[in-house]
Amino acid sequence: MKAYILEKNGGIKNVKQVQLNDLEATGSQVLIETKAIGINPADVQVRNSDFMLNMITGGHIPEQVILGWDVAGVVKQVGENVTAFKPGDEVFGLISMPGLGSTYATQVLATEDQLVLKPENIQFSEAGATPMAALTAWQAVVTKANVKQGERVLVHAASGGVGHFAVQFAKNLGAYVIGTSSAKNEDFVRSLGVDEFLDYTKAPFEEQLGKVDVVIDTINSVEHIRRSTKVIHLGGRLVYLQPHFAEALESSLLDARIAGFGVFVSSSAENLKEITSLLASGKVKTKVTQTFTFDELAEAQNVVESGRATGKIVVITE
Ligand SMILES: NC(=O)c1ccc[n+]([C@@H]2O[C@H](COP(=O)([O-])OP(=O)(O)OC[C@H]3O[C@@H](n4cnc5c(N)ncnc54)[C@H](OP(=O)(O)O)[C@@H]3O)[C@@H](O)[C@H]2O)c1
Repeated sequence: MKAYILEKNGGIKNVKQVQLNDLEATGSQVLIETKAIGINPADVQVRNSDFMLNMITGGHIPEQVILGWDVAGVVKQVGENVTAFKPGDEVFGLISMPGLGSTYATQVLATEDQLVLKPENIQFSEAGATPMAALTAWQAVVTKANVKQGERVLVHAASGGVGHFAVQFAKNLGAYVIGTSSAKNEDFVRSLGVDEFLDYTKAPFEEQLGKVDVVIDTINSVEHIRRSTKVIHLGGRLVYLQPHFAEALESSLLDARIAGFGVFVSSSAENLKEITSLLASGKVKTKVTQTFTFDELAEAQNVVESGRATGKIVVITE
């Protein structure tokens, strides 16, 4: 099989394409021939930082590190304990999060509790782009914030991978949703169904809106998340995606008298099944804005690393 290995933490030049032995599924493993691999900021962060690599693997770093967690593909072979899937099934999932998913390859091993069947109306590119961003948004909007009908919800970076799903999940729950991005992404954010669009480059977001019940803050900045506490009603909820910021945020949460929840996404076929039924019914759409070939994976990572990606960026393996 072809795969990208991370030679050492650092820039994209440290990610090298190599030829490796084919994989074999045993026990509860499923062997997937990949069709599409979603690229996420986590891939870049773990590539860049040995702290992040240590954190995500719990210190168990294998000799050969293959990045990537999102995958869609076709089941090639299953281990003797697998009952949910058979060769030929079209599947997708977030693999081994936390841990190493090793999806930057033409073959991937997963366990059956990380995978779901791909609905026929969804392309492989959309399926491969979905798992990490959609599961993060689900675990933020549904599991942690428990958004209710009629609530006012602010989603920061609504044009990003996580944000574009968070908007759609909150709308599907009947919330009034405000989404932020810069002006160039206004049409994209409005196409997701937001009730209000807010350009964060025009003026500080807190000067542009009244109080909300929930904020989904996807921005990787303690200062930004502290600002979000100021726009939430007493007793409201703030969800942020850097759980290690918890201590730094404690006093701001107490001052604002709101609840704060840090989300660290985890593989969950159960959550992914709920997301899949929304995709199958067309109530939620994965918006893939750029695709790259397997040989162009470095370019795909560069787009994500820029912080300016719109929707999802995907590598197609064939
Ligand atoms: N904890 C977890 O489990 C978990 C899981 C997934 C992701 N994350 C983290 O969540 C963050 C978002 O992930 P993602 O996949 O959604 O990223 P992404 O797709 O790369 O987000 C890019 C988008 O962010 C927008 N943006 C950047 N700065 C902004 C700001 N200050 N206000 C509003 N919008 C802004 C950009 O819009 P403009 O170009 O218009 O500015 C762009 O469209 C990353 O830091 C990622 O590491 C954490």
